[in-house]
This record gives sequence, structure tokens and C-alpha cells, in this order.
Amino acid sequence: MKFQAVKGTRDFYPQEMRLRNWIMDAWRRVSLRNGFEEYDAPIFEYLDLFTAKSGPEIAEQLFSLTDRGGRNLAIRPEMTPALARMVNEKINSLPRPIKWFSMPRVCRAEAPQKGRLREFFQWNIDIIGEDNVIADAECIYVLVDLLRELGLKADEVKVRIGSRALTVAFLQGVGVGADAVDSVLPVLDKRPKVSPEEFARLAAAAGLSAEQVARIAQFQDCPDIGALKAAMAGRDEAGKAITDLEQLLTILRTMGVADYCRLDMRIVRGLAYYTGIVYEVFDAGESLRAVAGGGRYDNLLQVLGGPKVGATGFGMGDVVLGILLQEKGKLPANLGSGQLDYFVADDAPELFEQVVSLVAAIRARGRSADFSYKRQAVGKQLQTANRRGAKNAVIVKAGGQVALKDLSRGQQQEMSMEAFLKSV
Ligand code: HAM
Repeated sequence: MKFQAVKGTRDFYPQEMRLRNWIMDAWRRVSLRNGFEEYDAPIFEYLDLFTAKSGPEIAEQLFSLTDRGGRNLAIRPEMTPALARMVNEKINSLPRPIKWFSMPRVCRAEAPQKGRLREFFQWNIDIIGEDNVIADAECIYVLVDLLRELGLKADEVKVRIGSRALTVAFLQGVGVGADAVDSVLPVLDKRPKVSPEEFARLAAAAGLSAEQVARIAQFQDCPDIGALKAAMAGRDEAGKAITDLEQLLTILRTMGVADYCRLDMRIVRGLAYYTGIVYEVFDAGESLRAVAGGGRYDNLLQVLGGPKVGATGFGMGDVVLGILLQEKGKLPANLGSGQLDYFVADDAPELFEQVVSLVAAIRARGRSADFSYKRQAVGKQLQTANRRGAKNAVIVKAGGQVALKDLSRGQQQEMSMEAFLKSV
């Protein structure tokens, strides 16, 4: 019998693992320098946690199972409900604002396609316990900080920012009833992703008239705050949503990341729990799926049995990010080389014992070292050192001497083994 990895999953051979670690190291570095603390949760949870308020799309994509006790469980398709559950459990003892990050492995039973798999890693940045848009701005700042960290420029990626609160106010203004809003929002989320004909079909199925569709389209295509204000003229309930958007854009300018950001009311997000500012990151050419997405979810903790606490954040997957970095030529050419500090060789087989003890002495000093198990000519051993991307080769010679060779610069110097070990 021959086995393969399941469709939509990936094997991480050391080469792929190096890329994954490189991305995740950047996620962690950027999170920590922005003042976020790391957390994690189980890989599976009670099924209801993910069906309570995430919306039909996530519910359809769940890998669910029943345990031997008959409990309905699901592998996590996202982190946000688990985060809300964890925070709810300790809400009174956690100092606010809670600024947490995670990098979970998550699974969605989607049809695999470019940029979308059934198992991936997702960086989550969330701030809980702050109602002010400063928290939304901070999350977007962290997002841009990561994009910049990986070398992506403002003309290569854009954070497209909308407001679900404002969209909901507009929908109610054009006669979409409060009970219909939940089923209309996922349709609007699809508008930039499907053909106009398909969108018209979905909109009609959600009960929107052709006139409503035309007015919504006009609203969603507003290029700036001025146009939005005009579109919402006389509708007081939109006031806070517009002020929030305006303030957000001002803070982002102050933070120096406005060139990465753009107002785009077509962004409403697919998940059901969002309530305020929402955003997605796309490559500038818009040829790929979203790199990241998030927004404010002020009701989720309460829906999951906790108090009403403001929350905002985003998720970024490793899949589209990897494709984008590859396409833009941003991946380091020598990924993973230089991880081995010393490759120890000998220039005569009888020195092998000294090789083994030197390797042990280097490792005991906390540096990495490796060597060939088979006795080979020194040239062969140096070839292996180069293939392994070692920083240095140490050639053990007769009489307690070594030659230390810097493999990137090609310089070589001889010294006693004692002097070498002192330098390690
Ligand atoms: P989401 O938009 O469903 O949001 O996912 C966020 C990101 O995860 C996407 O932009 C994409 O990079 C990645 N992603 C999603 N599905 C897949 C897939 N099938 N394959 C590969 N990558 C994928 C959420 O999950 C929210 N919980 C994010 C959030 C955190 N909102 C607030 N805090």
C-alpha cells in the first residue's frame, strides 16, 4: 500500500519547514515588539463554540467528530471563538487591555485552491477590553509592521478598510430589515470575489431588489469619507461609525502607515461576529486571495456567555503570504544556511576520535556542530560542510592543531585546539 498526504494538506520537509519557521519567526518578532503576549488553545473544541456566532461559511467548513462519550467536537477552523472562551473564563483577573497573539494550526474543509488549503497556520493578533478605535489602529499598525518586516512595499499590498457598522446602517436605510441583515452581509462579502451576474443572482436570492442592489453598489463604491457622509446624510445612527472611520484613518496617518491603507466599503467580511471596523489585506494586483482579514467583534464574548467587552483583531494565514512573497521575490535566497556554526572535519582518519570529542566540546559550549560519520578525504568533508550551509569548517590536524575556515569569506587560520575552543 502507498500513502500520500491528504488533499489540501502539506508535508513540511526541512526545506519547507525553514520557510514556515522564517514566516513564524517574523510573526512572533513583530507581535512581541508591539507588546503582544503569546497564548494557545486546544486543537479541538466543542462544536457549538464554532457554530454559535461565526456564520454559515465557517459552519460548512468544519471538520467535526463525535468522541466516544457522544460529545460533538470540531477541529478549530479559526482561533477567535477559542480566544473569547479563554478570556471569558478569566475575565475578572486579566488586566486590560488584553493584547494577545497566537499562531495556531487550523483546519477548514474548503475545496483546496490557490491560496486556500484545508490545513494552514494562522497568525492571530487581538486586543480585548478596549472600545476606542485606537485598538483597531494598533492592530492595523501591527499588520503593516509585519508586511514591512518581510519587505512588502506599500505599492505591493494594501489594507482595505471598511465598516460593517456603517454598512448595516446603510442597509437599514435602503429598507433591508434588521432580521435580513445577517443573510445579506455574506452576499455583499462575495461582491468583489464573484462575477456581476453571480452577484446579482446571490443578491436576488437574499431578497434584495434590483434598486436596492444598485444603491448598495453606489454606497460601497464611495471613494472617501466625504462621499460616505453624503451617502449617509441625515442618518444619525451612522454618525459614530463615520467618526470611528475618520479617526482610524487619522491615527493610521499619525502612525505613518497610511500609505499601506485604503478606504474600501466593499469590505464587509464573511464571518458573522464582526460589528465595526473591518479590513482585509490584498496584493495590489488583486490576483490572489486575501492575505489577512479582521475587524472589531464587540458582541462575541457576550454571545459566548461572558460580559460585553470590546474586542478587535485579525488573522493572517501562511499560505497566501508565502505565495505573495515568492511571486514578489522577497524570500531570502539562503534560507536556513548559517544555522550550523561549525562543521568539524579531519585531514587523516586517525584523528577521528579528536573530531568526535571536539564536536562534543563545541556543543557543550552551546554552539551547533556536526561532522561526517564516515571517514572521507578532507575535500569531501568540506563539500558536505558547504552543502549543509555551515558558517565555519574546523579541520583537525595532527599535533593538537586545527584550521578554522570561514566558509562564507573563504579565510582560513591555523591555531591550537585549545585556542580555538576558547574562541567558541
Ligand atoms: P478569516 O478571514 O476567515 O478570518 O481568515 C483570516 C486569514 O486566514 C485569511 O485572510 C487567510 O490568509 C487565512 N485563511 C483563511 N482560510 C484559509 C484557508 N482555507 N487556507 C489558507 N489560508 C486561509 C478569521 O479567521 C478571523 N478569526 C480572524 C480574526 C482574528 N478576526 C479577529 N481576530
